[in-house]
Amino acid sequence: MQIAIDGPAGAGKSTIAKKIAKTYDMTYLDTGAMYRCIAHCVLDQIGDQFDNEAEIIRIAQETVIQFKGDLVFCNNKDVTKEIRTPLVSLHTSDIAKIKAVRDLMVRQQRDYAKDHAVVMDGRDIGSVVLPEAELKFFLDADILERAKRRKKELDAKGNDKALEEIKKDIENRDMNDRNRTEGPLIQVAEAIVIDTTGKSIDDVYDEIIKHINEAL
Ligand code: C5P
Repeated sequence: MQIAIDGPAGAGKSTIAKKIAKTYDMTYLDTGAMYRCIAHCVLDQIGDQFDNEAEIIRIAQETVIQFKGDLVFCNNKDVTKEIRTPLVSLHTSDIAKIKAVRDLMVRQQRDYAKDHAVVMDGRDIGSVVLPEAELKFFLDADILERAKRRKKELDAKGNDKALEEIKKDIENRDMNDRNRTEGPLIQVAEAIVIDTTGKSIDDVYDEIIKHINEAL
């Protein structure tokens, strides 16, 4: 069984994907964390040279990404917190538009799905990574609500960014993700679209569970 969940930033994909994986004893793969790891390693190794494609590709080839429970490891170092900083969020779409980087990530994601029943969330899961997935969901929400959700998350970590700034960051990120040539964020025709605006996590979860149970 493969379940693909795509959608823009802050639509609630990862929270829902984790919950579903737990319910059905499936493995959850956070593909965004993989791209974040590469952006983090680039910052770490060559600073903000995000136009140096050759070096970025070299770094992506050499980076070993592992998931251990809720923790994310990059070259054996726990980077769970580091990959969630606003700086990494800002630059992840810079590395995610490079074809060679995407090819490397997609290959690893498909390999992962070979051995596990998976719930994967990202931008190109239904379209590129798992085109044969039994179920595809596209989660979306109003931009202001997505920005408010992200602000709540960041505030809990001591953020001092204003809502308007967070909203702009999300809009820019979505625009980059939707307009790139390789693996853009798209809603495939067969995806079940769920607008999560004004809905609680439990509401969205119940809606998705209904679809999964029908498909089983
Ligand atoms: O899902 P998350 O917000 O952690 O993703 C961070 C970034 O990683 C996205 O904005 C996008 O640029 C990139 N990404 C991607 N393809 C995926 C998952 C994430 O390009 N499948």
